[in-house]
Amino acid sequence: MKVLVVGATGNIGRKTVAEALQLGHEVTAFSRSSRGFGPATGLNLASGDVRSSEDLKAAVPGHDAVILTFGAPLNRDTILRPTDICEVGTRNVVAAMQAHDVPRLIAMTSIGAGFSKGRGRWPFRNIIAPFLLRNILADRVVQEEVVMASGLPEWVIVQPAELTDGKRRSDLRHMTDFEGQPQPTTVARASVAAFLASMVSDKRFDGGGVLISD
Ligand SMILES: NC(=O)c1ccc[n+]([C@@H]2O[C@H](COP(=O)([O-])OP(=O)(O)OC[C@H]3O[C@@H](n4cnc5c(N)ncnc54)[C@H](OP(=O)(O)O)[C@@H]3O)[C@@H](O)[C@H]2O)c1
Repeated sequence: MKVLVVGATGNIGRKTVAEALQLGHEVTAFSRSSRGFGPATGLNLASGDVRSSEDLKAAVPGHDAVILTFGAPLNRDTILRPTDICEVGTRNVVAAMQAHDVPRLIAMTSIGAGFSKGRGRWPFRNIIAPFLLRNILADRVVQEEVVMASGLPEWVIVQPAELTDGKRRSDLRHMTDFEGQPQPTTVARASVAAFLASMVSDKRFDGGGVLISD
């Protein structure tokens, strides 16, 4: 399959590109710079900003699936002020996919948005999410609404639990609701990347959200 990874220079994005290549997909890495990518079989580079509908209209055609791994950094600016990068970027991606009949969207968002609001370990759900991530999560909520209202034939929302740089695990919990289950905890970026790449052909969570946690 031909897969576009949007946010490919990020920690998760870079690993997602590698995992998708490993699975035998042809991958286009879309980001504002192509830093750190050497030549690799099956890898193409596309430079662009998710805020630019033109950049995405140029990059999206010809792919079978798009994986979103981009997001705003947690810093003073995003703690203090609203951000709309995920909303705007996802609107632009969806519009380009619709215009060019690209059917499948795998949208990584975050624990604390949508169906996992109020979930996570105590510090995350009581301090980090409501205070430090307030603006970032508000943007993620709208991003998910854009995906759900996209009208695309195939979409899935993937919410990582709190991110770590630990080792990839294959025994993740896949949570689509939280009834009677222990709280989500953490998940390694490497595990998230492998899961996102697997969603290119695995359709069991389509049309909804799944939270992945150790
Ligand atoms: N911290 C947590 O516990 C947690 C939990 C769940 C989900 N998340 C979410 O996971 C996301 C990804 O994590 P990460 O570690 O991979 O983040 P990261 O390393 O900061 O990567 C963010 C990516 O987004 C890209 N990006 C940002 N603005 C862009 C724009 N305007 N156009 C194109 N690309 C743009 C960046 O590209 P450039 O290289 O061009 O800047 C980079 O590739 C975070 O944004 C966060 O919201 C975090």
